[in-house]
Amino acid sequence: MKQLYDYQLKTNESFREAHKKSIENPQAFWGEIASTFKWQQPWEEVLRYDWSVPKTAWFLGGKLNITENCLDCHVVTHPDKDALIWEPNDPNDATVRYTYKDLLSAVCQFANGLKNQGIKKGDRVCIYMPMVPELTIAVLACARIGAIHSVVFAGFSSTALAARINDASCALLITSDGAFRGNKTVPLKDIADQALAQCESVKKCFVFQRTFQEINWNPRKDIWWHDFIEGLADTCTPAIMDAEDPLFILYTSGSTGKPKGMVHSCGGYMVYTAYTFMNVFQYQPEDIYWCTADIGWITGHSYMIYGPLACGATSLHFEGVPSYPKWNRFWEICEKHKVTQFYTAPTAIRALAKHPTKLIEDYDLSSLKVLGSVGEPINEEAWHWYDTHIGYNETPIVDTWWQTETGGILISSLAGVTPQKPTYATLPMPGIQAALVDNEGKVIIENEAEGILTINYPWPSIARTIYGDHERYKEVYFSAFEGRYFPGDGALRDVDGNYRITGRVDDVVIVSGHNLGTAPIENAINAHPAVVESAVVGYPHDIKGNALMAYVILYESIEDNATLISEVREEISKQIGPIAKPDRVMVVSGLPKTRSGKIMRRILRKLAANEIDQLGDISTLLNPEIVDEIIAGLAKE
Ligand code: WTA
Repeated sequence: MKQLYDYQLKTNESFREAHKKSIENPQAFWGEIASTFKWQQPWEEVLRYDWSVPKTAWFLGGKLNITENCLDCHVVTHPDKDALIWEPNDPNDATVRYTYKDLLSAVCQFANGLKNQGIKKGDRVCIYMPMVPELTIAVLACARIGAIHSVVFAGFSSTALAARINDASCALLITSDGAFRGNKTVPLKDIADQALAQCESVKKCFVFQRTFQEINWNPRKDIWWHDFIEGLADTCTPAIMDAEDPLFILYTSGSTGKPKGMVHSCGGYMVYTAYTFMNVFQYQPEDIYWCTADIGWITGHSYMIYGPLACGATSLHFEGVPSYPKWNRFWEICEKHKVTQFYTAPTAIRALAKHPTKLIEDYDLSSLKVLGSVGEPINEEAWHWYDTHIGYNETPIVDTWWQTETGGILISSLAGVTPQKPTYATLPMPGIQAALVDNEGKVIIENEAEGILTINYPWPSIARTIYGDHERYKEVYFSAFEGRYFPGDGALRDVDGNYRITGRVDDVVIVSGHNLGTAPIENAINAHPAVVESAVVGYPHDIKGNALMAYVILYESIEDNATLISEVREEISKQIGPIAKPDRVMVVSGLPKTRSGKIMRRILRKLAANEIDQLGDISTLLNPEIVDEIIAGLAKE
């Protein structure tokens, strides 16, 4: 029988062949790859889909548990290999390692604890934790017993956390006393307490002790992690899951309204994340793979936990930030652990590039074989800096385009195997049928073109729905262009068919790699009693990629705008999180509107970007004089 690694593509020709086969016969293609995993019961049908509903199902009738494939299978073949290497925030603290055997035991023990608390298959469990190994253990323990995990990034506020807990009616919250982030300590339990005051569904709160800071204790609800796992068995029979049962919910911002709880299922997600991990990063058995993301985002789920572990890899997790104690921390970790694959975000690359290269030159980075980028378009300058200073102009760079909704990488080169091109994600992965369309939805045939990116055929790890709101799922992803998945991104294509993603075509702004919908930020601003209306737009920023500017109209003009502006920023921080605070807030007497009353965001974006000469014709606006007022305001900023 073939093994997963028999499907590792090692030449450009084999990539082309695989892609061709995946299009000619997707079912045979994915069926073969899926057969290399452990299934409790084989599937009856590889794929059934109808995107007019929309409905997508893979490996129908198949039964499995993803943790068996991520842990038990490797305990049989390489029990003592490191599954997880954990680097703490403080470089003076010890590295922690979990072999596959250790990780399985820890996951099973925690899973037994969850069961003892009455958590069962299908229950939703919210995880709001720092980047400690226990976060990964909690995630996998949920998967072990079939509970649906919903990880919320620990930078979100109590209001944002409560909204996510309530949306999925979570039965349990797992958190920690606090979190270390660089020289800061974040009071996670306090934030969690504030959230739980608004969440009736949560019966218990498990608290992992990380910072040993003082916290409030609610004896009816709170349980220490170390207390409740004490004495529990470290084996736990995996729940038998249907391939299409939900594995997790992960929230992502939409251009309007509340966050979207993307639901991923067990079978297809496992197959696709493992296949793409192994191929994009060209993982080899001795490699030490490091992705610098947070597990609170999809990159953490797919390419720090599930993909690498399903491939039997060693995945390094880092608790801290690139700047602590100094801006050399990433390189120190690379040298210390002889990291072979390093996967980070353009925003981190740009921030690192601002610091003297001396901070890199002190370290031996010769172990690095692959560099990766994810989360936003990588600009030319950042690409070349990465290539020159970290890759010494010889390490392949993979620019991986994908989304929370896609579950795994859809467009990327395969490191050292397929051609790379600066700032281009390059070619769709095997199984991915991409097309560019124009605004009317007409497919653009010519290779060299610019348009809106769409995907025309299902792949195994596509999110199956938005939790509790299938109508919205249909509306957002399948209504713009009939029969096609619409990711919300624009793209350029070159003569060779390589794609370069140009950015969002909706009202989502990616700030430092975090997706932020402008509507929820406007809602937060409008909650201030002095505010009539507001508009938030993104504009280019040389480190964050994009920054936010808010234009605010007040009921009455006031003397002290500074206090108001800081209150508005605080409100945003409270409702969403500090990441959503706009860099600039301008008080204006009106917003440029069309005669039908629509805010002209395009003009506000140009103004924020200081592209005053590119405003176009503004004479048809309802209130063109506002533009002059804003220009005068910009001059005073
Ligand atoms: C953007 C992150 C250009 C894109 C995995 C997408 C990218 C959104 C790239 C999804 C890339 C992600 N080049 N843009 N390599 N990767 N994006 O859900 O706009 O946090 O739609 O998933 O990030 O962000 P999300």
